[in-house]
Formats: sequence, C-alpha cells, structure tokens
Amino acid sequence: MIDDKVNIKKTEMQFGNADAPGHVTCKSIYVDDIPAMEGLLYLRVFDSPVAHGKIKNIDYAEAEKTDGVVKIFCYKDIPGENQIGGIIADEPLLAGNEVHFCGQPILIIAAENEDAAEEALHKIKVEIEPLPVITDPRVAFAQNKLLSPSRKFKIGDTLSAFTKCKYVFEGKTETNGQEHLYLETQGAYAYPTEHDSVKIFSSTQGPTQVQRTAARVLGVSMNKVEVDVSRLGGGFGGKEDQASAWAAMTALVAYILKRPAKCILHRMEDMRMTGKRNPYSSDHKIGLDENYNILAYEATFYQNGGAAADLSPAILERTLFHCTNSYFIPNVTATAHSCKTNLPPNTAFRGFGGPQGMFVIEAAIDHAAKSLGIDASLIQRKNMMDDGNEMPYGQIIKNSEAKSCWDEAISKYDIETIKKEIKAFNAKNDFIKKGMALMPVCFGISFTNTMMNHARALVHVYSDGSVGVSTGAVEMGQGVNSKMIQVAAKTFGISTDRIKLETTNTTRVANTSPSAASSTADLNGKALLHACNQINERLHSFIKTEIASNTECMVEIKDERVYINDEATVYNWKNLIQQIFMKRINLSAKGHYATPVIHFDKAIEKGHPFAYHVYGTAVIAATVDCIRGIYEIDAVHAIHDAGTSINHLVDLGQCEGGIVQGIGWMTMEEVVYNEEGKLLSNALSTYKIPDIYSVPKDLTVQFLNTDKNNLAILKSKAVGEPPLMYGIGAFFAIRNAVLAFNPGSNIKYNAPITPEKVLMGLYNM
Ligand code: MOS
Repeated sequence: MIDDKVNIKKTEMQFGNADAPGHVTCKSIYVDDIPAMEGLLYLRVFDSPVAHGKIKNIDYAEAEKTDGVVKIFCYKDIPGENQIGGIIADEPLLAGNEVHFCGQPILIIAAENEDAAEEALHKIKVEIEPLPVITDPRVAFAQNKLLSPSRKFKIGDTLSAFTKCKYVFEGKTETNGQEHLYLETQGAYAYPTEHDSVKIFSSTQGPTQVQRTAARVLGVSMNKVEVDVSRLGGGFGGKEDQASAWAAMTALVAYILKRPAKCILHRMEDMRMTGKRNPYSSDHKIGLDENYNILAYEATFYQNGGAAADLSPAILERTLFHCTNSYFIPNVTATAHSCKTNLPPNTAFRGFGGPQGMFVIEAAIDHAAKSLGIDASLIQRKNMMDDGNEMPYGQIIKNSEAKSCWDEAISKYDIETIKKEIKAFNAKNDFIKKGMALMPVCFGISFTNTMMNHARALVHVYSDGSVGVSTGAVEMGQGVNSKMIQVAAKTFGISTDRIKLETTNTTRVANTSPSAASSTADLNGKALLHACNQINERLHSFIKTEIASNTECMVEIKDERVYINDEATVYNWKNLIQQIFMKRINLSAKGHYATPVIHFDKAIEKGHPFAYHVYGTAVIAATVDCIRGIYEIDAVHAIHDAGTSINHLVDLGQCEGGIVQGIGWMTMEEVVYNEEGKLLSNALSTYKIPDIYSVPKDLTVQFLNTDKNNLAILKSKAVGEPPLMYGIGAFFAIRNAVLAFNPGSNIKYNAPITPEKVLMGLYNM
C-alpha cells in the first residue's frame, strides 16, 4: 500500500514540525543565543599545529599578560582527570607532553572579551619535536597501531564455499570521511552554582556523556554537574561524543574561576579540531554460482580511527553488522580493524559505520556484475534477504520488507522503461551519458551496545490542564520533539497545543543514552508512553469510582472529552484535571523503557542485537558531461519502509535530507589531509557540500505502509539514518555513465566520485 501525495499533505496539516516556527522567526534558542551573564568569560583554544610530536617547550606567560586575559589553562590546571575518552580512556582533554593530531587542544584562554582572547592566541609560542605522522589506516595496521581489538563476524565456511563458486572476484574499495558541517558549531556555556557545582548548556547529542566527562575532568561526582540542552543546530553524529570536550573546558573555567564562561568554535576551528566520518579502506572477495547466487563473501575493513578511539570501536562493529546490507549470503567472513592514525579522532556520522560496510558489498556486487557483463540489479534482487534468513551476526530476519520495497520500486518507478530510455539516450549522445543504479538498504535499529537501549521520561500535568514533558531525547532538527508531543497528546486524548516539550536536562531525566542510532523517538517515546499511561490509569480510576460510580464501566478520553461507555459526559480534560488535583491525586509520572528481546554476545559475535530493521530501495539516475567530467543527479526515487508514520512531514524531511547528505558523501564532499596530517579542506571554500542546486531535480520518497513492528513507537519506524544510504546509489549511477562513455574505464571503487575522478575515468588518465 502506497500513500498518495494528497494523503501526505493532509497529515502534514494536522501536525508538522513543532520546532519549525521558532526557526523561521528566529525565536529558537541555541547555545550562542543564551544571554551573557555578568562577568562572562570568552574561551579560545590553542591547538597543535603539528600532527605528531613531543612538546619541548610552551611559553604563554606573555599571552597571559594580555589586557583582558584572566587565565590560560594547561593540563596541569585540571583538578580531576585529564581524560575525555568515552569507550576507551585514551584521549586527554588538553595535550600533556605529546600531541597526536593537528588541532589537538593544548591550552584554553579565558578572557573578558573575544578580542583579548584572540590577541593572546597569537602570542603563544610552542616548540614541538616532530614524530612520524601516519594518515593511512593500512600503514597504521602494518605497524600494529590499533585503537581497539580487531573483530570478526562469521557465518558458514567461506573457505570451502569459494571452492564451489563458479565465479570469484576480488578487489579493493575506499570511502572517504565526511565533515558534519552542522550549522551550529560546537559550543557550550557554563556557570558555577552552589554546593561546588556547575551548570552547563551544551550543544550535545549526549547530555549524560557531557555530564560524566565534565565530572571526571573536575574531579566531582555527577550530581554536581547539571547539563541542559534546548536543541542543536544539527548533530549528525558529530555531537554524540565530540561535544564533551568544549563542555568540559567551559565547566573547568567556570568551576576554577567561579565565573560564567562560554566557548563557541569558529567554523575553521571546528573543521580543524573535530573528527569526521571514519574513512575506510577495504578488501573484498565475492563468489557466485552459475545462477548468480552469492555463495561466499569475505571483507576486510581498515577503519581510519584517528588519534583516539572516540566512538570508532562501536562504529567498527556497525560496519560488520551491515557488511551484507539487504542480502542473504550463507558464507561470510568479515574482519574489521580500527587503525590509529594522526588525524583528529574520527567519530559517529549518520549511519555510524553502516554506510561504509554497505558500500563495500555494493561495490563487490557491481564488480561481479561488470565482469560477468550483466546488470548489477540481477545479482542484487537474486540475493535479497527474506524472513527466516540468518544474518552473519546470528539474528534471524523477521518481517523483512527488503523484497517488497525493491519490487515496489521496480514497478512504481517503471525501472525497465528508465533503463530503456537511458540506453536510447546513450546511443544517441556521444558526449553526454546517463547512468542509473538501484540501492537497497537494510538498517538495524537499536544501539548495538545492548546496555544503551533504555530511556526515561518525566510528565507533569499541571492543575490548569497544561502538560510539561521531559525526556532524554535531544532535538537536533530531526523533529523528535514533534513526535514526543504527538505521543503525549495521543495517549492523553488531548490537543497538541496543551503540551510543552521541556529542555533535555540531566536533573529531570538522568542516565540518558545519546540521541543517536536512529533510536531516540523509539526509546524516549516508549518511556513517555509509559509515563502517560500511569497518569491515565489514575484518571480512569478516578472517573470510574468518583464520576461513574461503576468500576466496570468503560472510560475513554478523546478530543479532550471524557466518555463513559461511549457516551460523552460533561467532563472535559480541564475540569477533570482540576477535580483530580483537588482530590490530591498525583498528576506526575516518570516512565521507563528498556527494549525487550535484544541481546548480543561479543565473545561469539552472535545474538539478536536489533529490535527490528528498516528497509528501502532507491533508484538513482545521473547524467555525466563527458567532456568536462561534471555531472548531475537527475532523479532519486525511493520506496521507504517507514512503518506507520506518525508524522509524514518529519519523516519525509529526514528521508530527503538523508538522501542529499548521502549523495554529498559519495560525490562531492572530499576531506583532504596532506601527508603531514594537516587538513587542507579546512573551510567552506575548499570543502563542498550539497547546496540547493545539487538536490536532484526529481526527488520522490514514497512510504511503504507496514504495521508489523511493535517495537517502533506507535509502529512508526526509525528514520534518522537509513535514508542516507540511498545516496550510495549515486556513486554507481555516475560510474555507470562513465562506463557508457568508456567501457574500458579504469575508474576505481573509490568514493567520493568527484568530477576530477570522473574526468580521469572517462579518459583513463
Ligand atoms: Mo548517530 S551517527 O548514531 O549520532
């Protein structure tokens, strides 16, 4: 069943994005908009100019004397631990005797104003004895420089399976990094509070991670650090772990100097100092029988982790979970190494290693198809997963929509006609060629670390009938607040206008998992449902005993009206709440949710790590100018398994944004470091991201309406990350167009497929 556009419009009008009006009228508050408090200090960070070396001497006495500078902090000024590593304790907040990447923070300048901080920055003198710099993960691997133990996922026996294959192909692929480029750069604002405590406003996806890190750095217990988040101007994974450093720095200054402090990174500082999507270099070996069934697949992933573990070990794990994408392959051996290089610690980015794993299997299939002279889609469809299939990590597939999405895309978008049209176009045009590709996606929903799949919510119904909701969810433009409002309104049977979403605050909702893994609405929404239902039970019991005087009657509140045995009463939400309050009944509740069913045993690398999977298929078409090497993405059409979407506008926005971001990663976004580990693509003039002109002219997303997943909030499936991977199809569409011009092209499976690489591929340069 497919929604038609008319239906989508109608639902949009019912409830859209609760945050949007504030954004377009400039009323939304971000960290840098918080009014300056009396005595506010402005921070600047002095960072390493070299990628690896021993700090021989550092002189900031002159800088500290600058008019307006209050103090310059080095690692010795940290009262607690000089440590911010989340998964592994391998990352100092401020460099001590050694630096490990260009942009590594060494000193913090605290000044009365920004100009003074800037002036002081230029007076700092540092002498660093250079050490060898590694930027290539394979070089790091060869020298046994690993951030965490290597991992291997295995099903069947690839060794013997390859002997049974008629066709075997081996190759190498590369995917590059990706700059998050959230509109709001990293930043935090902190001030000292009573009882030796501190309050931090942070632009973070993980308020609890900020709280934990700041407490560790200050050497205080977590209850002395309060973290508050209104919203983020984008996160995309870049503020899951990497927001902690700047928050800890502002907390440190506020705590030591007993003054408010704020640190907002300039764009070029942010680009230079923070990590990006992990680049991967990978090997693949794929074996097929005479009917193009994939019998065996081997992949080895060399992840470029950067100078510290950050989230890379977890990202590595998700690469393995998604190494077979939407396919069932009976014999798989996938090995992954997290390699330590002298780059800023690379980190989470929408898809969290999944896209990097999927690119490799798609390249392997394309490689096989090209060698066999057949269409890749033949191998793709032939090997698509089905219910009952076992994934390499042990989970048995249930409620698969892989084939239904694929088949719906084929028929809905009339793929055969598109193929014919492209063929005819290419036959007629010598110097403009078109190409297309199909990109299926299967993405597992849950944090792969089972322990993180839990959440809490706090609900207050005030005596006037208005409602305040707090959850652990962080709004970062993905529309989670809108969904939370919808969950509360629907569960209470009242108007969304009555509900206010409060900031995410560690004193109201504690021990949160970051807003990540596409799981935020599911986890927090289910916790919220639990809280609302507790209040509902009290309301219903009051109505039965005090209003109906019949404990057996049926009670319902809908459209703000109380119904008893399906009959409307004189009671509405507002006067009901007043009565309940007068009767001294508790109108607050705390909800808790922990995803059932999921588990994973790392010792054997088997389990059932995901609550469910999200599926989809996209068709992507591109046109290449074969004289200049430039190209355009003509169309992206996707059939996306959104479950029963509770908010079409929000979900559609996530799909469209994800697709464009995925295309950016695959085509134009090129993170470039030189051999000394210096970032060359260090500004918006040297790093190109998709703008409105690079959005495909024809971009349509249709939802496959399914209702099988009870672990999705109100059966509305997770949508944050999966659509990004449709963008991988852009790589293959462009590559196919290049091959239409030059069938003997030497173009590699090396993303991004920039116009430069296209031009070289067109002429085998
Ligand atoms: Mo997301 S990449 O799980 O912050």
